[in-house]
Amino acid sequence: MPLTAYDLTGRTAFVTGAASGIGRASAVLLAEAGATVHCADRDEQGLHETATLIKTAGGTAHIHPLDVADRTQVDQAVATATAATGRLDVMAAIAGIMHSSPVLETRNEDLDRVLNINFKGVLYACQAAARTMIATKPKASGTSSATGTGTSTPTPTPTGSIITMASGAVDTGGPGLLCYGAAKAAVVQLTKTLATEVGPHGIRVNAVAPGWIRTPMTDRHDTEAQVHTEGIMVRMSPLGRVGEPEDIAHAVLHLASDASAFTTGQILRPNGGVAMPW
Ligand code: NAI
Repeated sequence: MPLTAYDLTGRTAFVTGAASGIGRASAVLLAEAGATVHCADRDEQGLHETATLIKTAGGTAHIHPLDVADRTQVDQAVATATAATGRLDVMAAIAGIMHSSPVLETRNEDLDRVLNINFKGVLYACQAAARTMIATKPKASGTSSATGTGTSTPTPTPTGSIITMASGAVDTGGPGLLCYGAAKAAVVQLTKTLATEVGPHGIRVNAVAPGWIRTPMTDRHDTEAQVHTEGIMVRMSPLGRVGEPEDIAHAVLHLASDASAFTTGQILRPNGGVAMPW
């Protein structure tokens, strides 16, 4: 690892949604950067596949089958993950579902399901992570201001980074995106609010808002023939393509690492230039 700012050796990361798509690619890349990666998802088979990918490449992975919409399960999994190494450095709350329905046809159960997974699932992960990071952060040592005569040593560099997964849907809107977009907008607000509250503890909180990425999720909701190669997102992108999970994983790695040490409360938009909000 020639670029030490991206080196996660000795650090512990927890990734939700790690059984597929963006979450899997992120888990694999964080492990490649040296982190011990705890992979969480409700798809146990997919978790095993991700862990095998990581271990085959020489990394360290543990799996935690869970439903992110269940606060107790999330709290227990984060506690288990933290117990092993005594620290939690990175939380990447990536698990989510797609849902599309016109406003006038949206039912209570649609709204509840999407908010429970895409917003509350992220909230529970953020809360568990921030509490753990605060409780386990390195203590400053060597100060002796009480006597005014001693020397002081620098406060250890805190490493806590929380990454949420928003969406380009919060920038553009679109038919059918009420539930999904509302949940992702709430994730953005959570990200900004939490960043202000835990910054004094040395914890950074940032969101990634991807454009259209080729994953099992977009495959399932592909309503346009050849959408990944010829669809509107390809035509709207100055780069002329949709994204791959690895494009987003690199954004996650950047935010997880010391390379982004002065970045918090921000939304990183790897979207191929489809939207350019300022
Ligand atoms: P995916 O469907 O490939 O992966 C999502 C993962 O989340 C799956 O492994 C699934 O089992 C897991 N999951 C869903 N509900 C869960 C629950 N209740 N508990 C535990 N795990 C659960 O989807 P993809 O595309 O990788 O999406 C990942 C995240 O990125 C999502 O939050 C999505 O909204 C977001 N995103 C995706 C974009 C895309 O174009 N693919 C664009 C913008 C955002």
